[in-house]
Amino acid sequence: MPAALKHDLFVKGNDEQAAKQDFVSGLRAFVLNDMATSMKDHYEASIEPELSRLDKTPASGQDVHQALKSDSVFKFYSSMRYNAQEMVWRSALRPLHDSRAELSQKIAAANSDAVPSKLELNDELEIPRNVAALDVHLAPGSYHREDAAADWMGGALYDHGLNIFSFGMMGENLDDIGQSMAQYIRQKFPDFAPTTIIDLGCTIGHNTCAWKMTYPDAAVTGIDIAPACLRYGNARAQNLGVDVNFRQMNATSLDYPDNSVDVVFSSMFLHELPVKDIRKVMSEAQRVLKPGGLMLHMELPPNDSLTAYDAFYLDWDAYYNNEPFYKTFRDQDFSQLRMEAGFEKDKLLQLITPQYTYMQAQDYAEAIQVDAEFGGNTGRLAAGIEWFGFGAWK
Ligand SMILES: C[S@@+](CC[C@H](N)C(=O)[O-])C[C@H]1O[C@@H](n2cnc3c(N)ncnc32)[C@H](O)[C@@H]1O
Repeated sequence: MPAALKHDLFVKGNDEQAAKQDFVSGLRAFVLNDMATSMKDHYEASIEPELSRLDKTPASGQDVHQALKSDSVFKFYSSMRYNAQEMVWRSALRPLHDSRAELSQKIAAANSDAVPSKLELNDELEIPRNVAALDVHLAPGSYHREDAAADWMGGALYDHGLNIFSFGMMGENLDDIGQSMAQYIRQKFPDFAPTTIIDLGCTIGHNTCAWKMTYPDAAVTGIDIAPACLRYGNARAQNLGVDVNFRQMNATSLDYPDNSVDVVFSSMFLHELPVKDIRKVMSEAQRVLKPGGLMLHMELPPNDSLTAYDAFYLDWDAYYNNEPFYKTFRDQDFSQLRMEAGFEKDKLLQLITPQYTYMQAQDYAEAIQVDAEFGGNTGRLAAGIEWFGFGAWK
């Protein structure tokens, strides 16, 4: 169930609204845990044996999708999941609209000139088509749409929607990914002491804050194209007492000098970009990193690392969740992408980490001593999830 977020911009809603959100979260947990397990059992018991008898064993996620497309178990799973996704946003929006005046006041105060400015917007920037042309993952208004001056609704919707969507699996303030990635680096590379960290496609800066908490001496900046997310994210970070900056920028063209940044991080960002932009983001990361700096992208695992079924399972979003670049990204050769951007083969990095904020510190430290292998839980939002990251040292 969604727990209350631990900041002052959190809107619980009235009892009926809160009950609806609980229901939607529970429904998502049921679909992604129970129904997904039953669907896999069904595939393994009934569909795969028949295909293999006909000498047509699926070799890729696409083959599995083709085989399951007209199957009623898959269709039922998909319609439940699609509807649950729409319900996530609907159940989050109403209480936010009801609290609009109060939230506007808090966010305007945090972003006002009265406090030292942590937020830099750029009105000249065009919103790229990957954000502007559709409601990404069915979120009304995508990340960027603004209905009023200094609007922040896109950010508030992401925060509250993600909390419902992730049914308690993203950490106390939805920052488990950032905490796990930053801790992994801090513990595995104790001599690495970054002073400048940027988080690309940061949305509301939930994972940006995690880097500042892990490396308190570093200057940490969240970068995104969507002002509505950045306004909200800046107010959120201030409310949490985390000293980070936010800049509106297109990650394909970074406003940083060459060799000036220690860590270029992103999480769940690349899969929302067309491949041509992923290439630009990586080249830009290579350019702005200092020698010895680190590029690290937390992402969904590449299709060539998974079984055909697991690849199919993760690619569901590409077909049914307004994520048009999801599969194209996961079909790429991740090593080649990095090397084409100028990173050297022997400096590539790949990691799989358990969830830091759900473990005792000692258990986490022991767990990451062993290099984890790709498996059915890598990148899959369900019990036992592990996060995948890849990047390179410059
Ligand atoms: C899925 S969200 C990232 C989520 C967030 N990093 C997290 O960990 O949950 C993708 C974000 O990338 C932003 N974005 C998309 N294209 C961009 C671009 N070219 N430059 C900067 N930000 C971009 C979107 O506005 C959105 O906030």
